[in-house]
Amino acid sequence: MIEGFKYHGTNKAFFATYKDGKWNEGELTSEIHIQISALATALQYGQSVFEGLKAYRAKDGRTLLFRVESNHERLVSSCERLMIPPVPKDLFIQAIKQIVDANRNLIPAYETKGSLYIRPFVIGTETTMGVRPATEFLFGVVATPVGSYFKDGFTPIRLQTSKYDRAAPNGIGSIKTGANYAASLYPKHLAKQDGFDDCLYLDPRTHTRLDETGATNVIAIKGNQFITPQSSSILPSITNNTLQILAKDYLDLEVLIKPIEIEELRTFDEFGACGTAAVITPVSEVYHGEVIYQFKSYEKLHKLFDLLQSIQYGDIKESYGWVISV
Ligand SMILES: Cc1ncc(COP(=O)(O)O)c(C=O)c1O
Repeated sequence: MIEGFKYHGTNKAFFATYKDGKWNEGELTSEIHIQISALATALQYGQSVFEGLKAYRAKDGRTLLFRVESNHERLVSSCERLMIPPVPKDLFIQAIKQIVDANRNLIPAYETKGSLYIRPFVIGTETTMGVRPATEFLFGVVATPVGSYFKDGFTPIRLQTSKYDRAAPNGIGSIKTGANYAASLYPKHLAKQDGFDDCLYLDPRTHTRLDETGATNVIAIKGNQFITPQSSSILPSITNNTLQILAKDYLDLEVLIKPIEIEELRTFDEFGACGTAAVITPVSEVYHGEVIYQFKSYEKLHKLFDLLQSIQYGDIKESYGWVISV
């Protein structure tokens, strides 16, 4: 059984390069180490974007991908913001299919509820001294089997609000780029030192509203409402968007996307973190300075978790066009 969210090896990686204004078709390699210039824009100036998605093993043995086109759309928006030529949809999908095929034997069995985590990325590889976008890029896809992100499965985590920001109000918090994660390393280290699982970032303009954690959006249940923060500095989570649709269509909840003041935590029945890696991870406590917000029930979040997993692992047939068999 694959434990935790770690690198557990791979069979093959995929790489394609961009040069002279076009992407080549790329190829599989058995080596994930790459050789690039020490002065590549990705290394010196952070011109690097990535995605994260999973391949799931269904009960009948099929391999399923979930909303892969949404990952492509978000990668394109990340590329555009960082002056990276977007990876064409065909190249993206073909690369993922090749990676799944080459690593199919690594996909954990259905019963383990593990998955093959797939990490597409694009980095500027050209040697530059001055700050400017590269003209040469590498698109890579690497995959490895994973278990759950936070502890095991649907076990509650504890969060601490951070005085640090992972992103600026009109910065790059809404795209998936390494810089946001670099900015989250120290605050997360401090939160862990204090015994928490991660930190909860507040909106960087006023520090009075909820943003997200370092690697997940946050969601709340209040009566028959599903509530999630609106902010320019959080990543548009595909999982969150999916849950909004499921909450409305299956649980008949009203979906509210709005700025959430910290004190509103007191009014929520359930609170959780969501993302591809975390699925839905319930939150039992949020510490904000001396103030502690506690959540004791996870009934609706659990229903949403089961529903989402049933769709992703192919137990329930969905009609949204989210799941493809590869
Ligand atoms: C900062 C951040 N927020 C939210 C998410 C969740 O996004 P998704 O549901 O698309 O995985 C992630 C993970 O990708 C993330 O890194």
